[in-house]
Amino acid sequence: MTKAVVLGAAGGIGQPLALLLKSNALVSELSLFDIVNTPGVAADLSHIATPAKVTGYLPANDGLLAALKDADLVVIPAGVPRKPGMTRDDLFKINAGIIRDLATGIATACPTAFILVISNPVNSTVPIVAEVLKKHGVFDPKKLFGVTTLDVVRASTFVSELHGDLGLAPSVVVPVIGGHSGVTIVPLLSQASHPLPSLSPEDLAALIKRIQFGGDEVVKAKDGAGSATLSMAYAGAEFAAKVLRAIKGEKGIVAPSYVNLAADPAGAKVLAGELGRELEYFSAPVELGAAGIIKINALGNITAGEKELVNAALDELADNIEKVRLSTDL
Ligand code: NAD
Ligand code: LMR
Repeated sequence: MTKAVVLGAAGGIGQPLALLLKSNALVSELSLFDIVNTPGVAADLSHIATPAKVTGYLPANDGLLAALKDADLVVIPAGVPRKPGMTRDDLFKINAGIIRDLATGIATACPTAFILVISNPVNSTVPIVAEVLKKHGVFDPKKLFGVTTLDVVRASTFVSELHGDLGLAPSVVVPVIGGHSGVTIVPLLSQASHPLPSLSPEDLAALIKRIQFGGDEVVKAKDGAGSATLSMAYAGAEFAAKVLRAIKGEKGIVAPSYVNLAADPAGAKVLAGELGRELEYFSAPVELGAAGIIKINALGNITAGEKELVNAALDELADNIEKVRLSTDL
């Protein structure tokens, strides 16, 4: 029996993500919370012939706590998306308070759940959740994840496009590390499962930039109507499916995620050596187990160019993390 919860379930990401979780046979109970429209979304999804029992909750009558009660997995796409001209960090002010309040509910109702944070700016919202859980004495770094899977999905797609064969996309795997904003997104193309076609330095730089700024491409195309929702729902469901398989006991599942490095002190030490700097949070390939992160994997062999990309990410990442510590109202 596995209970999954979506917080922000009536939104652009929340609805298709809820649909994909309802389609996952490993979910036996699906609980949907939002400040609007969840009864309708839940009624709609509940007619789908899959095992999960679906229930919708609104804030009235302690709806957040009722939605979260005894959850095994909580996915959070609640909050405001970007408009053209904004950075993800511009969302901090409005989304930080939303995430703080939702994390307080988790600390009370399901402190041992796996928590998957989608809401931006991920580089800061993950530390916010951690700080709230610490305040309540229930923080387990092995179970908190910033969802950076969309960067991995984009990398697979763009590399397969370069091969001229989108049919390759589902099997192309590119580790993407660092964080989830602009230059903090670092694709390790030298470790791609499929060798890249021969590229000029300019074309390689353009590919890296497209992976780093893929979010802007969608924000621009949506022209004020929000950011990536459908591709994010796909990516969120992919990562959630891996966590669900790990909860069920499957071994050897590895995926990049933005995590608190205290989840694996030995792995964090190796990573700090590779980065040349200690950070509290970083997106690295992590091995998942039934009780959360088993291991944070080292970056391994990376090229001089990739090392430069990593160096360029570190200051912004450190600032995004520090911003949470400096916020007095969290
Ligand atoms: P949206 O506006 O379509 O949906 C957000 C939903 O959150 C709405 O239904 C809204 O009612 C709900 N909400 C607001 N405050 C809430 C609260 N206090 N409790 C519960 N629900 C609340 O936005 P979206 O396009 O779905 O994007 C959501 C977030 O995900 C944004 O912050 C966006 O930047 C982020 N995002 C992250 C990634 C990623 O790769 N991690 C990708 C795309 C979008
Ligand atoms: C993305 O990468 O698509 C998301 O983080 C949304 C955004 O603001 O770009």
